[in-house]
Amino acid sequence: MKADLLIHSAAQLCVIPPHDGGPQRGQRLGDLGLIEGGAVACADGVIVAAGPSADVRADWQARVEIDAAGRVVCPGFVDPHTHVVWAGERADEFVQRIRGATYQQIMAAGGGIMSTVRATRAAPPAQLVAESRPRLARMLAHGTTTAEVKTGYGLTVADEVKMLQAIAALAASQPISLVPTFLGAHAVPAEYRRDPEGYVDLVVEEMLPAVAAQPIARFCDVFCDEGAFTLAQARRVLEAARTAGLGLKIHADEFAPLGGSALAVELGAVSADHLVCTPPAEIEQLGRSETVAVALPATPFGLGHSAYTPAQAILDAGGILALASDCNPGTAWCESLPLVIALACRYMRLTPAQALVAATLNGAHAVGLGDQAGSLVPGRAADVLVLDLPTVDHLGYRFGSNPVQHVIKGGQVVQGWQSSRPAV
Ligand code: NIG
Ligand code: FE
Repeated sequence: MKADLLIHSAAQLCVIPPHDGGPQRGQRLGDLGLIEGGAVACADGVIVAAGPSADVRADWQARVEIDAAGRVVCPGFVDPHTHVVWAGERADEFVQRIRGATYQQIMAAGGGIMSTVRATRAAPPAQLVAESRPRLARMLAHGTTTAEVKTGYGLTVADEVKMLQAIAALAASQPISLVPTFLGAHAVPAEYRRDPEGYVDLVVEEMLPAVAAQPIARFCDVFCDEGAFTLAQARRVLEAARTAGLGLKIHADEFAPLGGSALAVELGAVSADHLVCTPPAEIEQLGRSETVAVALPATPFGLGHSAYTPAQAILDAGGILALASDCNPGTAWCESLPLVIALACRYMRLTPAQALVAATLNGAHAVGLGDQAGSLVPGRAADVLVLDLPTVDHLGYRFGSNPVQHVIKGGQVVQGWQSSRPAV
């Protein structure tokens, strides 16, 4: 049979099988479906075969072949939490934090998220797209083939819609599949400082209807934390979003435990993210739910904090754990899921195999794409990486350089083409 692309002879092919058609839960996380000497064939943008090289090559001939001898082949990374669309930068705040200021002090003084809001509001749409595009290109080069992207630096009806349109323009003009999330409740903007409830009214009564009117956003998120939105405000926003037909996400327990994780479970949110200081009772609730716990270890690392998401407790409770970059200009300008994996191995005590599944199959579940991405079983999107590593255990073991040699998106080689060998 004819395929478009065949990657063969991989030292380790990681199929990453879904469990019962779903994510890998609890301590069952880390099932790679490993095939030594494996091959994967792609046709019409989807995986058509994955198995021992001899079997796959006996069945499939392809126009383009990649010899992955001595290397790891795995699904493209799915990054289920980013703020990668923004204008400007905040290197000055990085230096202030080194000198002792805290993230929340900087935010209370009018910097932080509001600093990026000012730059993003001032940027014409084309500039917002142009500033964000190279970040997505670097994410792709580091193996991200699907990414969630949040708004939240506009905080007016027009500027939030502008951000969604920028995300749509980027989705249409570069290879990474983007999943847009409306995050109007990211910060109370300066003009509503004395009237936060008035701002929540604006989000619920004007922004959500405007966002829902153009079918761009897939999820609604809210930053429920000290210095951001209260639990009651988060509930109001998420209940209105659910009524408007959006899926739900929440930033919870990054700095203070306000009950956001329990709210996520109660409302059936697709994910609860950060979870650095989640109380044990709420970890148990998450563990019994379908809500994916998304850990963002680049964020405490970026802030120089020592507390990380208690991944082992989440897994012991039976939870669905995913990893994401949180790429944003304040806490974590991180475009590399391989670095996120390296941090998760050390500070969350995930094995490389567990971290890889958390950054692929389980990440796909955190953005509602659990049946399309994150695995190399036939029928899934042909999003595949060739890693220049001899075994999966080298992922995370090595850090600071890019292990990704080839990126295949929808069956097309989009990075590393030069070194791929077309079949004669
Ligand atoms: O996930 N926590 C809220 N939002 C981001 C930070 C955004 C910013 O500082 O610009 C985060 O860490
Ligand atoms: Fe975030």
